[in-house]
Amino acid sequence: MIDRDAALALVKAQNPNPGLLAHGRQTEAVMRALAARLGHDPELWGLTGLLHDLDYPATAATPEQHGLALRSLLPEGALPAVALDAIAAHNDEYTGHAPATAFDYALRAAESVTGIISAAALVRPDKMQGMAAKSIKKKMKDKAFAANVRRANILECDKAGLPLDEFLTLAIAAIASVAAETGLA
Ligand SMILES: [Fe+2]
Repeated sequence: MIDRDAALALVKAQNPNPGLLAHGRQTEAVMRALAARLGHDPELWGLTGLLHDLDYPATAATPEQHGLALRSLLPEGALPAVALDAIAAHNDEYTGHAPATAFDYALRAAESVTGIISAAALVRPDKMQGMAAKSIKKKMKDKAFAANVRRANILECDKAGLPLDEFLTLAIAAIASVAAETGLA
């Protein structure tokens, strides 16, 4: 499997905008925490989170390729098949790869929850400090807030193995741990 430095270098080589780079790092943090909590491999889940949008810049005009094109951007053996499946399934609306495993559901929930938590942080004076799960639940019910974040994907956290309240608490702590490097401090 690829190591973290090489994975981050690959992501940066695709010229992601700062928001997309932050999204990858936040998704990595949530996935590492989820794997540790649920007894999976934190390195595998974390690097999959970091790399999941690797091909986003390259597929801006071909969204049906997002989540699939990265296979040709990765060195041979960089990620195992289960990770490539999870990445394809995070964009199943376009790729047609339906999520099936805990890993698949975890990536969908993790990459979606970063959107609503970071949007919530940016409108709080204290950003991530003191953020509570119940305030994120309230934001999830406000359809106009961060309207592009797919609430259904977040709610699927229970299929990854964690109920919503616990998932939100874990995700807030994970994103807070990378707040300084992802524009949320
Ligand atoms: Fe993403």
